[in-house]
Amino acid sequence: MAPGGSERPDSARGKGCGLLGGVARHVVSDPGLFGNERNGMVAGSMQAEPIVIASDHAGVDLKSALVAELERLGLAALDLGTGPAQPADYPDVADRVAAAIAAGRARRGVLICGTGIGVSIAANRHRNIRAALCHDVSSSRLCREHNDANVLVLGARMIGTEVAKDCLATFLSTPFAGGRHAPRVAKLA
Ligand code: RB5
Repeated sequence: MAPGGSERPDSARGKGCGLLGGVARHVVSDPGLFGNERNGMVAGSMQAEPIVIASDHAGVDLKSALVAELERLGLAALDLGTGPAQPADYPDVADRVAAAIAAGRARRGVLICGTGIGVSIAANRHRNIRAALCHDVSSSRLCREHNDANVLVLGARMIGTEVAKDCLATFLSTPFAGGRHAPRVAKLA
């Protein structure tokens, strides 16, 4: 049982957690997608890997803007909906992104709802997910450096499109700092 007595969803359980699955996901730090000096990655070397993205009905317009932004950055978007005029329940949306990451279809994701709160709560019930609700660039940088967050969460009714784009670019380009943060992140497993 998860803390507080609620069962975690089956898709969140240890086995089959994809590229970041099992214990190893906390050992192998997730570098910025544009590379960094610390691990010697070549800038752009991970650009073929898609970023999974999904929203409920409240986030459809922001999702479209961020899909376009991902393409502008040379990154592929794995868009799991919701489409225009399709009401969607935020737990279902979050489960879709968690499942895609668990299956290894992507390592990083973006979730959007009206406030960002609903998809955050739902996404973080999955053991393979560290979802961070961000309203500014500093948060999106620190959630990567300190928390090794693998899902960026945005509230479409809370922030503007340009701030959201900046949060996205920062989230994708910032590596996990490791060091003293690594054992703390490991305790989240
Ligand atoms: C939908 O109206 C809204 O409740 C949802 O997008 C989200 O903000 C929930 O947390």
